[in-house]
Amino acid sequence: MAGDLRHRRAAGDASGEEERAAKTGTSSGGGGDGVEEAAERGSGGRKEALGWLEWSRGWLATVGEFFFQRIAASHLANPLELPPLDGVSIIVTGATSGIGLEIARQLAQAGAHVVMAVRRPKTAHELIQKWQNEKSECSMPLNVEVMELDLISLDSVVKFADAWNARMAPLHVLINNAGIFTIGEPQRFSKDGYEEHMHVNHLAPALLAMLLLPSLIRGSPSRIINVNSVMHTIGFVDAEDMNLTSGKHKYKSWLGYSNSKLAQVKFSSIFHRRIPAEAGVHIVCSSPGIVHTNVVKPRYVFTYLLLCI
Ligand SMILES: NC(=O)c1ccc[n+]([C@@H]2O[C@H](COP(=O)([O-])OP(=O)(O)OC[C@H]3O[C@@H](n4cnc5c(N)ncnc54)[C@H](OP(=O)(O)O)[C@@H]3O)[C@@H](O)[C@H]2O)c1
Repeated sequence: MAGDLRHRRAAGDASGEEERAAKTGTSSGGGGDGVEEAAERGSGGRKEALGWLEWSRGWLATVGEFFFQRIAASHLANPLELPPLDGVSIIVTGATSGIGLEIARQLAQAGAHVVMAVRRPKTAHELIQKWQNEKSECSMPLNVEVMELDLISLDSVVKFADAWNARMAPLHVLINNAGIFTIGEPQRFSKDGYEEHMHVNHLAPALLAMLLLPSLIRGSPSRIINVNSVMHTIGFVDAEDMNLTSGKHKYKSWLGYSNSKLAQVKFSSIFHRRIPAEAGVHIVCSSPGIVHTNVVKPRYVFTYLLLCI
């Protein structure tokens, strides 16, 4: 019950911040700034939707990433060589597939203590076995463990954070990677009452970050890395309609997804400002580009987005 109260307060704080930010115009459209925004808000009015300029800029960025990311990233080493990470503790959510799996594998192979925070522990254990088998026989065993975390349940988030914090151990990096994009599917809500994209991609990771703050401070200088998306640029967070149920904004899966990613960017910015600099906890949101994974099958997504424009 204590956990229940704690997560309610934490989630409440977050949406309160967003609401305040939205009212001052800082938590709204993806482009989110400039003359156009001021004009749309008019004399103290709330912004109701993305302006056409922000909307066009956002879609250009999204489509541009689709076509030009290979060129833009061609100077980067692949794979990127990591320094030795012995003694560094890193939690990676959604480490059983796609980007999270690759992050967890590479960090573990660089010597980090990796915690795979996943909803399918059995799969995670099988992966660890596979990675271990791939290592040469004389090398040290990987320092990887599995902890159960189902982000669609706020109780699961609280349970996870309580279990980790009870160790009184430092946490150096939290990678909020897990996410969903239920392309073309109807709107769904979590048991906690939130639209699923908003819940899994923003609210649960935000709660996790807040609850793990004591461990992150213990591990300072430490970092929260949110795996975000260029699609946040076409999102619009209406603090009075976070669930997209009022009828003001018609639900579409891409809107649910991009709104949740924008909410994460806005929240991260507010959260970062709230943490005293001396605590040494930094927050970044990163866009991985377009990667062929379970969540994104590029051809399918591109066709879907084009049909939606
Ligand atoms: N792929 C892209 O082009 C792209 C572009 C921009 C941003 N992103 C972001 O990158 C992140 C990783 O996505 P991905 O592309 O690697 O897709 P993915 O292969 O589908 O991986 C998503 C991961 O999230 C986990 N997950 C989903 N719902 C969960 C829940 N309720 N509780 C715990 N874990 C949950 C999944 O678990 P299971 O393995 O159990 O299904 C999976 O491990 C997401 O945040 C996504 O929005 C991806």
